[in-house]
Amino acid sequence: MSKASDLKRITELRRELKRHDELYYRDAQPEIEDREYDRLKAELAELEAVHPELSLIDSPTVRVGDDRVEGFASYQHHLPMQSLDNTYSQDEFFAFVARVEKGLEVDGARFTVEPKIDGVAVSLTYENGAFVRAVTRGNGIEGDDVTENARLIKAIPKRLKGDSIPEIIEIRGEIYMRNEEFERVNALRSEAGLELFKNPRNLAAGTIKMLDRVEVGKRQLDIVLYGLGYCQPSVVSSQSEYHRRLGDWGLPVVEAFWEATGPEEAWQAIEKLDTLRNGFEYPTDGAVIKLDSFDQQDVLGATSKAPRWAIAFKFAAEQAETKLNAITIQVGRTGVLTPVAELEPVQLAGTTVSRATLHNREEMARKDVRAGDFVVIEKAGEIIPAVVRVLTEKRPADSEAFVFPETCPSCGTEVTQLEGEVAVRCVNIECPDQVRGRLEHFASRQCMDIEGLGVAVVEQLVSRGSVSNISDIYRLDYEQVVSLDKFAEKSARNLLAAIEASKRVELWRLLHGLGIPQVGAAAAKDLAKAFGGVRELGEASLEKLVELDGIGEKTASGIVAYFQDERNRAIIDALFEAGMNPKAPERPKEGEAVLAGKTFVITGTLPTMKRDEAKALIESKGGKVSGSVSKKTDFLVAGEAAGSKLTKAESLGVKVIDEATLLEMSQ
Ligand code: IVH
Repeated sequence: MSKASDLKRITELRRELKRHDELYYRDAQPEIEDREYDRLKAELAELEAVHPELSLIDSPTVRVGDDRVEGFASYQHHLPMQSLDNTYSQDEFFAFVARVEKGLEVDGARFTVEPKIDGVAVSLTYENGAFVRAVTRGNGIEGDDVTENARLIKAIPKRLKGDSIPEIIEIRGEIYMRNEEFERVNALRSEAGLELFKNPRNLAAGTIKMLDRVEVGKRQLDIVLYGLGYCQPSVVSSQSEYHRRLGDWGLPVVEAFWEATGPEEAWQAIEKLDTLRNGFEYPTDGAVIKLDSFDQQDVLGATSKAPRWAIAFKFAAEQAETKLNAITIQVGRTGVLTPVAELEPVQLAGTTVSRATLHNREEMARKDVRAGDFVVIEKAGEIIPAVVRVLTEKRPADSEAFVFPETCPSCGTEVTQLEGEVAVRCVNIECPDQVRGRLEHFASRQCMDIEGLGVAVVEQLVSRGSVSNISDIYRLDYEQVVSLDKFAEKSARNLLAAIEASKRVELWRLLHGLGIPQVGAAAAKDLAKAFGGVRELGEASLEKLVELDGIGEKTASGIVAYFQDERNRAIIDALFEAGMNPKAPERPKEGEAVLAGKTFVITGTLPTMKRDEAKALIESKGGKVSGSVSKKTDFLVAGEAAGSKLTKAESLGVKVIDEATLLEMSQ
């Protein structure tokens, strides 16, 4: 491969990984499975290893991510929350053990092997035995202070019991939701016509970040603790001792862990864990193997990305075999035709699966999937199950190849396939399935959040002809609503009130809800901030759009094309005529944007201002605040005890200022 094409791929991969990080951490809406993410990450690491000169200091080669959201105060961990290197291969695991033993100059290092819990990472602080704080991982350095919500988790004791309790200790673990609770919450949402959560992890992540404590209290979250952050004075000397001590203190701990010496014993423990983990209360996606002795951990230390003394061994996704009864075609809101396998229900990773995606026409042809086949399905990362393989040896003799439809099964329009795309589409904007999909998306929790306007209600409204585009929702009257199935006076009034209230949503929600190609929640937020209005966005040029951070060329042209379409413009006009009045994010007034175009990073303790206050000040003056120092940083605002960011700023020649200078500049 030439250097130019490698560079292109590196840039692409970095951008893709960043997008997936945001979807995973910030939006709790992952689009790809963990395994696919890990594959992209490995590809990038390989390319960067070949071209060290292209590895910029701030390249996101690890799922560093940032789970912080608006509405919570940031809090800096006393010790950073690190990530783990991971592998799916036994050879790589043995290579890890060999490295550790070489580094320590020992034969037969002692490890602990414990479950890797697939939850939401959190750090609990106890001071003199009293629970004082819960902070999410955030970007590893600082996270969201979710103490108030965490107080509602029954499994977190207010006080530690027993003895040898340190003055201050950060205890790391994972918040998760049990399967039954996940199903209970989703069943209620389904009855209320609300969009369902994809998996327990996303629901747990969404719940701990809710701003309404009453709502948090209605859902049961759980927690399991396994890790040590800052601890003063130190009271344990190994990971195995620490697990036992956590239990003594009355904290919920991992259901099993193993102490193992050398690679073979450790491997046996990993295999044992794999046979037991389905019976655990929390979802697990691997084993974490850690050097047991804390002293030895210190000897090996960490790279910039992860400790050298630990590794995660990820288990391959769980699979099951079942019969494929039929193949149906779903038409999504963007017109894409997705083939779906209707399966004989089968248990997989704790849930019953009766449908799986077959992705697209090409994928289907490649696998030659047919009705009546026996197939292997897989649920990696517990998103949507997929058909991975056909058991051709079990295929009935009279089976016939599936013929992908030439016309849309919903409206009969001839389908098309754009060059360079695998997706087959129906281009009829009035196609009933698309209309339904767009309306469901518009009303959903991630967009306008109109309670009561779920799948079943949309279905009825569309089939009765009461609505054919999103603006029609605002023309519904009482008679039309009360005559819907299962509706009575009160529910009809509630739905109309929810529709009315949605006229004043935050702007990004409306932008997301419009269904502009490529514009998800994250991009919608960036666009709302940058343009402050739908019309303003509609007038933006391609050049202006690509200038924005996080908006690539594809998204930019999607936006331009969307607003060029007269039908879309008519719908937007109708929305505003109906009284749509979204709230734009606060922007500095004319003349106050003295810091416009400047990017700041804040570090250390400032003499008078809290970090959030400094951030708010900078943003109110049109400046941007970023979490990490890079060549693009204009100023580092450094307070007392500024650490690595200061060193990095100095090495990059970034200007370092103090609080007083910031205040002066903001005048
Ligand atoms: S140890 C320095 N142990 O996995 C070591 N992490 O992929 C840091 N995780 O950020 C982590 N179960 O949120 C550790 N038994 C376990 C774990 C575990 C789940 C999470 C943790 C970490 C991520 C890394």
